[in-house]
Amino acid sequence: MSNDPLLQPYQLKHLTLKNRFMITSHEPAYPEDGMPKERYRAYHVERAKAGVALTMTAGSASVARDSPPVFNNILAWKDEVVGHMKALTDACHDEGCAVMIQLTHLGRRTRWDKADWLPVVSPSHEREASHRAFPKKLEDWDISRIIEDYVDAAERMKAAGLDGVEIQAYGHLMDQFWSPLTNDLEGDYGGSLDNRLRFTFDVLQAIRERCGDGFLVGVRYTGDEDLPGGLTKEDGLSISHKLRDSGLVDFLNVVKGHIDTDPGLTDVIPIQGMRNAPHLDFAGEIRAATQFPTFHAAKIPDVATARHAIASGKLDMVGMTRAQMADPHLVRKVMEGREDDIRPCVGANYCLDRIYQGGMALCLHNPSTGREIEQPHAIAKAESKKRVTIVGAGPGGMEAARVAAERGHEVNVFEAADAPGGQIRLTALQERRREMMSIIAWRYDQCVKMGVNFHFNVFADADDVVVTTPDEVIVATGGLPHTEVLGEGNNLVVSSWDILSGDVAPGKNVLVFDDAGDHAGLQAADLISERDGRVEIVTPDRSFAPEVMAMNLVPYMRNLQKRDTVFTVTWRLKSVAREGNRLKALLGSDYGDMTRERIVDQVVVNHGTRPLDDLYFDLKPKSRNLGEVDYEALVAGEEQAVERNADGAFRLFRIGDAVSARNTHAAIYDALRLTRCF
Ligand SMILES: Cc1cc2nc3c(=O)[nH]c(=O)nc-3n(C[C@H](O)[C@H](O)[C@H](O)COP(=O)(O)O)c2cc1C
Ligand code: SF4
Repeated sequence: MSNDPLLQPYQLKHLTLKNRFMITSHEPAYPEDGMPKERYRAYHVERAKAGVALTMTAGSASVARDSPPVFNNILAWKDEVVGHMKALTDACHDEGCAVMIQLTHLGRRTRWDKADWLPVVSPSHEREASHRAFPKKLEDWDISRIIEDYVDAAERMKAAGLDGVEIQAYGHLMDQFWSPLTNDLEGDYGGSLDNRLRFTFDVLQAIRERCGDGFLVGVRYTGDEDLPGGLTKEDGLSISHKLRDSGLVDFLNVVKGHIDTDPGLTDVIPIQGMRNAPHLDFAGEIRAATQFPTFHAAKIPDVATARHAIASGKLDMVGMTRAQMADPHLVRKVMEGREDDIRPCVGANYCLDRIYQGGMALCLHNPSTGREIEQPHAIAKAESKKRVTIVGAGPGGMEAARVAAERGHEVNVFEAADAPGGQIRLTALQERRREMMSIIAWRYDQCVKMGVNFHFNVFADADDVVVTTPDEVIVATGGLPHTEVLGEGNNLVVSSWDILSGDVAPGKNVLVFDDAGDHAGLQAADLISERDGRVEIVTPDRSFAPEVMAMNLVPYMRNLQKRDTVFTVTWRLKSVAREGNRLKALLGSDYGDMTRERIVDQVVVNHGTRPLDDLYFDLKPKSRNLGEVDYEALVAGEEQAVERNADGAFRLFRIGDAVSARNTHAAIYDALRLTRCF
């Protein structure tokens, strides 16, 4: 047996967990009609098969009608949940993986205009900034009703065969009771800490009475709100002891911080550029103080840190949640001594940011996550070997190369630069976004292991491609910034890429016209302001940088606000003219004929890219399919069969920004679903 601390079993009361890896509760927003159906089950079973010891399903599964989901959570208040959870649990149990679920009432962390339009409730009228609802202050009948709801939900999970439940207590109703900032009830449930904890213990007591000792119960809670006037670390320690001493809980799952604002949430669940494992020591302190089973997750992205967390006795079970979203087979790779093959989580938080915008959680660089059924993680070997030529070694091209090599094909990749990366190289030049480069580095390593032939410093033309006598050609040449958007003065502006690459030095007084609303605009503004430039970001949109999304916005705002950046929404840059040795920028509005002027020394335009597609059009007449894609086959995961030119020597496809400006996920997804059928 291995002596890896991560692979040692852990005894949680009567339950033997086969190793120390867990997936903490996270709602990927995959439910259909509020229920965890096939997609949901496939997601968890994939990870169970790979060896994770415990999967904490859901994330904020709702126990009551007046806790409507904010990101498509499981409706644990419906009886029909039992059948779906049983199917999921049975399938995971078959793989030796324990299953629990996180239950919650969101309290004020939701909205009244969802589902049944019931009032949002909380122990005070204080509004939560993120969800904006002004809550109704709980009455006695609300409290007893919701206690009952928790217990009914727990009982449903017991009936479904789960090993236990976890009660969520950070930012939700449970700890809205705890925190002095959100509880101004009078009487038994407000005032002293013991009174503020009463609701929690009422719920736990009732669950124990109904579900018995054989059903595991834990609490995931904040041990320090890190907020003036909120729960302190001393409160957290005191709560930890009270939970342990109650005899009503079997494990503690510790977090640190508060989630009522986007910056608060981002400190609890750090994103790329932020410190790894920032709250691990804190969780370790709680374990040391309580000597009680302690779980924890917060940006422990690599196996070495996870191993340290267990070996040093800071944790009993280590959560690697996003890490297993990015690589569902992480545990198996550890068991097989293949840690180098793990697809790394780069902390891009595309997964989380999407759910807060109503989408399903998707991993920026693993398009099979959440699509386990239609785009399985495993790539099957092809029946016959082909020659595949790829032009462009950005994320799309690299994914195509990786997948084609996994299929067993002979693969040639041409790249104009001296190294792979494409647009990601530019992104990752900024220290804060350096982790993005692992998207490329992992693929490059995999490709090299599988014998892909890379040709760097080659600006491939049609002849270079034809000479490789390919069966399949993929053009993944990306795009170039498009800045020709002005009535006058296009020659006077620079692109966001010019700033990011360092080709153009940042100005001192700069207008950034951001019409794409993506990372490049904010990243350029960040870089300019870092070098003491004064920046005004102008956008015709209603809000700035809409493509960047909530948690990704946080590090930018921390920098930009500190440096007095001005944000001007609903204005459009119309023209730029010289004014002495400066520039005059004319702003107009889509709302009328209003205009404004700005005098600056640099204008940066961020307006996405236009495809770099000359090579594609040169190759098109030489191809069998004339570049045509059968979308039905593409979506169904079937081989492309379009034949338009009997004289064509190869099939030709283009992907990613070489088609139109999109994002990294789109480019990689294009590559995966085309290439896996070659
Ligand atoms: C898509 C997504 C949804 C999440 N939803 C929840 C949730 O509902 N409840 C919860 O306690 N944590 C939730 N989390 C937080 C995770 O459980 C975990 O604490 C966090 O991702 C940090 O751990 P990691 O760095 O290992 O991913 C969510 C995380 C993700 C990525
Ligand atoms: S989207 Fe980013 S943070 Fe989320 S799992 Fe994928 S790599 Fe990790």
